Amino acid sequence: MVEAVQGAGVVVTGAGGGIGAALARRFAAEGARVVVNDLDAEKAKAVAEEVGGIAVPGDASAIVDQARDALGGVVDVYCANAGVASGGSEAAGEDVWALAWDVNVMAHVRAAHVLLPDWLERGAGRFVSTVSAAGLLTMIGAAPYSVTKHGAYAFAEWLSLTYRHRGVKVHAICPQGVRTDMLSGTGSAGDLVLAPTAIEPEAVADALFAGIEEDRFLILPHPEVAGYYQARAAEPDRWLSGMNHLQQKWEATR
Ligand SMILES: NC(=O)c1ccc[n+]([C@@H]2O[C@H](COP(=O)([O-])OP(=O)(O)OC[C@H]3O[C@@H](n4cnc5c(N)ncnc54)[C@H](O)[C@@H]3O)[C@@H](O)[C@H]2O)c1
Repeated sequence: MVEAVQGAGVVVTGAGGGIGAALARRFAAEGARVVVNDLDAEKAKAVAEEVGGIAVPGDASAIVDQARDALGGVVDVYCANAGVASGGSEAAGEDVWALAWDVNVMAHVRAAHVLLPDWLERGAGRFVSTVSAAGLLTMIGAAPYSVTKHGAYAFAEWLSLTYRHRGVKVHAICPQGVRTDMLSGTGSAGDLVLAPTAIEPEAVADALFAGIEEDRFLILPHPEVAGYYQARAAEPDRWLSGMNHLQQKWEATR
């Protein structure tokens, strides 16, 4: 059991399935009181019932106040997990880009805006961002996803460096493939890049809890991502050539 989590009021967005549901299950198993949010009300209700939590369905951007009320006025941990896997290139529609910004980035900003005043007053609060390895690296075939996940990572980083001396803890979870509905929808690029090393959603929850215990910002459920991230920073052109080889390999399969 992780002491910081026992009895805590926890909100998990996009928790009707996949990684969010695994996070909700794990927080509940560790003794937290869990608000289960999802756009899909039926799925949110089913997971809430399973974990003895409270379903607060709706758009993740719009439910923060309601979730806090459901927890008796205090959110100890907020998991900004809901996300959209917006694929496509520069030619993706404005609506595709707008949705990706809204769910993958602005929902995090809006939640932090609501939560920070209480957290700073209490000198405590924990913000967990489900980013993606695409937020550290880049996913072939998915410009809106890659760009907005970089944004989500940047926002988590900014929160952490701005408020860490005031008791706010931030974790950025950056997995590669995870066996969820989202992965099934990533098509041939996901089959090539993500599926071969995909892990179960429960492994993501395990990695987060190890990171909470070690008080670590960057959570890498696939440890090899640390090496790719270093290679990208150390030798950008070499890294880009490697990624371009992957792109060409993908093009050859299509
Ligand atoms: N599956 C992967 O390979 C993978 C890898 C890295 C990061 N991620 C990230 O993990 C997070 C969870 O994804 P998942 O793989 O569990 O996918 P998933 O599709 O199983 O679950 C995502 C859930 O979010 C919900 N959702 C979508 N928009 C919402 C909104 N505006 N408000 C509330 N709920 C909303 C969906 O209804 C769905 O239930 C996402 O942020 C995703 O980008 C996934």
